[in-house]
Amino acid sequence: MCFIRKIIVFFCMINSLRADTVEDFYKYVTEEFKNIQSYQVPTDNKNVFTTCDSKIRHYGHFDFIIVGAGSAGAVLANRLSEIKDWKILILEAGGDLTKFSDVPGFNNYLQQTDMNWGYMTSSQKTCCQGMENNQCVYPRGKVIGGTSTLNGGVYARGTPEDYAEWVNLGNPGWSYEECLPYFKKSEFVALKNYDKPYHGTSGVLYVNQTSPPSAIAEAFLNANLEKGLSEIDYNGKQQLGVSRIQFNIKDNLHQNSAHAFLNPIRNTRKNLKLILNAAVNKLLMNGNKVKGVTFVKDGVLYKAKASKEVILSAGSINTPQLLLLSGIGPANDLIKLGIPVQNNLPAVGKHLQDHPLFVNMYFRTNVSAPNHTLQDNLERYRHGMTPLTNGAGLEQLAFLNFQNEKNPKAEIEMITFAPPFSVPGDLKAAYNFQEKFRKVYEKYNTMTDISIIISLMKPKSEGSVTLRTNSILDFPSININYFTDPNNEDLETMYQGIKYALSLEQTAAFKHIGAHYIGEQPGCEHLISRDREYWYCALRHMTSTEYHPSSTTKMGPSPTDSVVDRNGLVHNMRNLRIVDAGIIPTITRGHLNAAIYMIAEKISDAIKKIHQKL
Ligand SMILES: Cc1cc2nc3c(=O)[nH]c(=O)nc-3n(C[C@H](O)[C@H](O)[C@H](O)COP(=O)(O)OP(=O)(O)OC[C@H]3O[C@@H](n4cnc5c(N)ncnc54)[C@H](O)[C@@H]3O)c2cc1C
Ligand SMILES: *[C@@H]1O[C@H](CO)[C@@H](O)[C@H](O)[C@H]1NC(C)=O
Ligand SMILES: *[C@@H]1O[C@H](CO)[C@@H](O)[C@H](O)[C@H]1NC(C)=O
Ligand SMILES: *[C@@H]1O[C@H](CO)[C@@H](O)[C@H](O)[C@H]1NC(C)=O
Repeated sequence: MCFIRKIIVFFCMINSLRADTVEDFYKYVTEEFKNIQSYQVPTDNKNVFTTCDSKIRHYGHFDFIIVGAGSAGAVLANRLSEIKDWKILILEAGGDLTKFSDVPGFNNYLQQTDMNWGYMTSSQKTCCQGMENNQCVYPRGKVIGGTSTLNGGVYARGTPEDYAEWVNLGNPGWSYEECLPYFKKSEFVALKNYDKPYHGTSGVLYVNQTSPPSAIAEAFLNANLEKGLSEIDYNGKQQLGVSRIQFNIKDNLHQNSAHAFLNPIRNTRKNLKLILNAAVNKLLMNGNKVKGVTFVKDGVLYKAKASKEVILSAGSINTPQLLLLSGIGPANDLIKLGIPVQNNLPAVGKHLQDHPLFVNMYFRTNVSAPNHTLQDNLERYRHGMTPLTNGAGLEQLAFLNFQNEKNPKAEIEMITFAPPFSVPGDLKAAYNFQEKFRKVYEKYNTMTDISIIISLMKPKSEGSVTLRTNSILDFPSININYFTDPNNEDLETMYQGIKYALSLEQTAAFKHIGAHYIGEQPGCEHLISRDREYWYCALRHMTSTEYHPSSTTKMGPSPTDSVVDRNGLVHNMRNLRIVDAGIIPTITRGHLNAAIYMIAEKISDAIKKIHQKL
C-alpha cells in the first residue's frame, strides 16, 4: 500500500502533461471523468495515516510548523516566509493540483477524487431527509489549496455588521474598518465596475467576473431588478442587491490559495519547506507547551520540532479533530474515549455554524441554451469564455432581506447557474439522494431550466464536530444540526426566501422566457396546501449545505466558551495557534474564503509584530 500510492501520483502527472492541444485536453478530461465515475469515496482515514512501521525519523527543527496548506495555511506560509531568518515547514496531507482541478467549472467533480477527505454528516433528524440514511455529503479539500481547490471560487466578504459582531463577542481589532486593509492587501481587483475604496489593486488574489453571460442567468438578474433590487458590487458599500458573481480566477485558472499564495514562491524561498502527502497525526507536547508534531508521509512516521509555534490550519473539521485527539477539548468527552485530558476546553468542536442550502427549486423556460459538446466547451474555455470559467457553473447571485429593518442585512442568498450546470452530473455523488428524490431531478433539464439555490446567511442553529473513537484512522462525526432553533426562525427565513423565488414568476423577465416553477417536493405530497407547512417539509428534505463550516474552535476571551484568543492563540496553551475557518467567532453573511484569507493576513502581521519583525 505504501508503494502503490507513489505510482498513482506518477501516472496522474503524465496524464496532465499531455494536455497541450484541445484534442489532448479533451482526451485527458474524458479520462479524468472515467476515474471520477468509478471512484469510491473513502469511509475512513486509513489511507492517509497508516504507517508501515512504528520507527520515528527526525525531520528537523523549524521556527514555525504550519499544519495544512489550505486557504489559511497558504497565506501564512507566504507571509511568514517573507522573514528570511525564519525557517518554516508547511505540511499538507494531500497532493498537488492538476490541469483538471484548474478548470473552475469542474470543481464539483473533485469531490469524487483523492482531493476530498470524503466526509458525510452524521445521520440527521431535522434536515437531509431526502438523502440516503439522512446523511448529507460534506466535502473538504485534501490537496494543496485545501478546500479552496474544491470550492466555487465565489469571492464574498459578508457585511461590516458581521465583523462588528465579532468585536461585540469580545474580540477587539476585528471591526470591518480594521479588517478592510487586509482584504485589500491580498486582492488584485480585475472587475470592470466596482466600489473603488473597498478593493485592492496590487495583491496576488484576482477578483473578476466571467463572460459572456448566459440568457438564463441574465433572466435572474433582470427579474431581481424588476423586484426593486439594484445591481451592486456586493463587496463594496452595499451588500443587498443582485450581481454577476465575483470569482477568484486568473488566466482562466481557478485561483485557489495554492495558485495565489504558494506556487509563486514555493521553489524560490529557501526558508520555506512545503511537503505534500504529509499528514500530521499528533502534537508533541511538554505539559501545555507544544514542541512540534509527528506526521505520516508515504507510510513513514516523522517528527519535526518548532521552536516558536505550531499553527493549525487544518480546517474547521480536522483542526478540532487533532485537538481532541491530543487531549485538548471538553474533558468529559475525552475521558469517555480514554483520551488523557491535557487542557479542558469545552468549546472545541462545538458551535459549528454553516449556511444551509435549499437545492430543489427549478423553473422551466421555453429557451434552450446552445447545446455545446464538451469539446466545444473546452475550446471556449481556452478562449476565456463561459461556461467552464464559472466556478461550479455558478453565475449570478442576490443578497436579500425581507424585514423592513432600518439597517437591513442579508438574510438570504440566492444563486443561479449557467447551463449546463443547473443539474449535477452525478446526483447520487453530489447529494447522496435517496431514489425517489433522485428521480425528481432526472426530470429537470439542464439546458432549459433555471435553478435557484437558496441559502440562509445567519443561522441560529448550531452543530458540532466530535470524535467517534480515539483513533485518527476514523473520521470525526459531523453533526450539522440545521433547523433546530427552538422557534423555527431558520426554517421561517428560508421559507421567506422560497416565497420570494416563486414570486419571480410574476416578473416580465421570467414571463418573457415562459419561466414557471416545475419543482416537486417528494416526501411532502401529503400536505395538500402548498403553504408554509409544505415548504418547511421540503426544506427538511432537500436542504444540503453551502459547505461553510465555521466556529468549531472559535475566537473569544473566555476558555469556557471559546478556544482561541483574538490572535488565534489556543487558551491555556503555549506555542499553539489556530488560523482557519474554525476560529471565526460567528459566521459571516457571505462565503467564507474571503474572510479566511483576511484572517490569515491579519494574524500573519500579528505574529510578525510579536517578534518585532514589523
Ligand atoms: C464544494 C465547496 C464549495 C465551496 N464554495 C465556496 C465558494 O465559492 N466561495 C467561498 O468563499 N467558499 C467556498 N467554500 C468554502 C471554502 O472553500 C472553505 O471555507 C475554505 O476553503 C476553508 O479554509 P480553511 O483554511 O479553513 O481550510 P482548508 O482550506 O480546508 O484547509 C485545510 C488543509 O489542511 C489539510 N489538512 C487537514 N488535516 C491535516 C493533517 N492532519 N495534516 C496535514 N494536513 C492536513 C487539508 O488537506 C487542507 O488542505 C466551498 C466549500 C466546498 C466544499
Ligand atoms: C477579467 O475578465 C474579463 C471578462 O471575462 C476578461 O476580459 C479580462 O481579461 C479579465 N481580467 C484579468 C486581469 O484577468
Ligand atoms: C445535446 O447534444 C448531445 C449530442 O451532442 C445529446 O446527446 C444531448 O441529448 C443534447 N442535450 C440536450 C439537452 O438537448
Ligand atoms: C416563451 O413564452 C413567452 C410567454 O408565453 C412568449 O411570449 C415567448 O414568445 C416564448 N418564446 C419562445 C422562444 O417560444
